[in-house]
Amino acid sequence: MVSTLQPSTDSFLRGGLELNDISTLKHDIDAIQSEGIGSGRGAVKTGTYIGKCTMWRCGKRILDEYPEMAEGKVHRGGRGVDALSFRSLGRELGRSDMTIKRWIDTVNKYGQSEEDAFPAIEEDAEIIADKWVEKQQPKLPPPVMALPDGKYSVIYADPPWKYTSGDQHTDVTQDTVIGTHYQSMTIPELCALPVIDLATDNSVLFLWVTSPLLDESFDIIDAWGFEYKTSIVWDKVKHNVGNYVSVRHEFLLICTRGSFTPTMEALKLEDSVQVVERTEHSTKPEAFRAIIEMLYPDEKYIELFARRRVDGWDTWGDEV
Ligand SMILES: C[S@@+](CC[C@H](N)C(=O)[O-])C[C@H]1O[C@@H](n2cnc3c(N)ncnc32)[C@H](O)[C@@H]1O
Repeated sequence: MVSTLQPSTDSFLRGGLELNDISTLKHDIDAIQSEGIGSGRGAVKTGTYIGKCTMWRCGKRILDEYPEMAEGKVHRGGRGVDALSFRSLGRELGRSDMTIKRWIDTVNKYGQSEEDAFPAIEEDAEIIADKWVEKQQPKLPPPVMALPDGKYSVIYADPPWKYTSGDQHTDVTQDTVIGTHYQSMTIPELCALPVIDLATDNSVLFLWVTSPLLDESFDIIDAWGFEYKTSIVWDKVKHNVGNYVSVRHEFLLICTRGSFTPTMEALKLEDSVQVVERTEHSTKPEAFRAIIEMLYPDEKYIELFARRRVDGWDTWGDEV
């Protein structure tokens, strides 16, 4: 049959196809598209299923008329039907050449018979819907590694604090946002860590914290079963501009459980302000570990959120 839609007949023929009854084809394609078919569980699955089945039916309808289009390419240079045919047919049907190509690709992918194609499409729709549902899930915090089983009298912790925008000052921005390459933990996540199970009845916790989170750090001390006693200030020498002041210090909080003041023999009163120029992001100077060992010699030590192993210490952290 020859189309009544004459204007592009020449180019259509030049594209390599005999022009059949385009008006019937166009009517059928429009009908398929307005119909939609299928059913399924969930809006995404149903929508995907209907959409793909509709594409398949449109493609199949065209291939019934022009089987040679199965081999066609939208871009010039393909075997068989070339770009011109896709463009011409698209123009006749009021669709783009890429749309026609996608319909035909759908038939090529799922097969020529409805019995094969529709169940395969349904399977794909299921997978797509599952992926969509997964994407909608709120991102869960990274799974927290189990703490070791042992008991320790000295616990040294430098948590990966999570800062909210309200806490921002330049010190935080540089040290914990821009330069951060590790996951951070919220206050509730840190509180939930069963550090209390690691601590002997009489023990000490040395906890690093920056000024903006000083207040929240007391919740953690409490949750971990310790009592705040005093602090050491680390003067980092290099300044960071802040919202209120130019920040160049962090706190090392000293907290105990039971009775655990340093023994008098060990006690050499260290200066509560330690001046050590900061180096790379988050790295705490070894001078503080030396102070801990001096205050509490020959104890069972563990470093939490450690980044490297140290002789005489147990370590826990996802980067060790
Ligand atoms: C502030 S850094 C510790 C820096 C260390 N004190 C130093 O001087 O190099 C915090 C560390 O906690 C680790 N961390 C983050 N989330 C963790 C998690 N859920 N479990 C274990 N370690 C985690 C980070 O990968 C990072 O190594």
